[in-house]
Amino acid sequence: MEIPNSVEKILLDEETIAARVCELANDISADYADDDGLILVGVLKGAFIFMADLARRLNVSHHVDFIALSSYNRGTANAGAVRLIMDTRTSVTGQHVLVVEDIVDTGYTLHYLLRTFHARKPASLRSCVLLSKPDRRQIEVPVDYLGFEIPDVWVVGYGLDCADRFRTLPYIGALRREVYE
Ligand code: PRP
Repeated sequence: MEIPNSVEKILLDEETIAARVCELANDISADYADDDGLILVGVLKGAFIFMADLARRLNVSHHVDFIALSSYNRGTANAGAVRLIMDTRTSVTGQHVLVVEDIVDTGYTLHYLLRTFHARKPASLRSCVLLSKPDRRQIEVPVDYLGFEIPDVWVVGYGLDCADRFRTLPYIGALRREVYE
């Protein structure tokens, strides 16, 4: 596959991602082996590819559902505030909820999600996140299943975007600075 000029380098190639997704799915399958009612909640749009690959690797019965959020512009007085624009279709009360995210950056989004789902009284609540940028964290959030820690660079592909571009690249690449600055 051709690498767009905007991508400076590949951080995680397809094989590396696939192997880690498989490991995460095995860990999750083992942990939920005795539980009924696992719901994976994918956070749109970024998690759609990770969610699809992870869900298909699980060996435990589960349902999938999705939620969509909008973050207020970073750098404004509202930075960190998150708004729910599409909720799950199913009720999560009494179910085992696993929130599936592509990336944790400041932590505000995952913090909002965990607080929101906690209030709905699930049987259990955990998070599975493909990428974490620890250097960017503004608020501490628990990540129960983590794919990779990455440096503070703008990453695209495998669901992640820059102005809605590059989401369907099969690898995770670092964008050239001049593309987003
Ligand atoms: C990204 C990502 C997370 C969030 C993480 O979503 O998918 O949901 O940012 O950032 P935070 O830790 O600083 O809150 P984005 O707002 O880019 O929307 P998208 O998933 O539709 O691309």
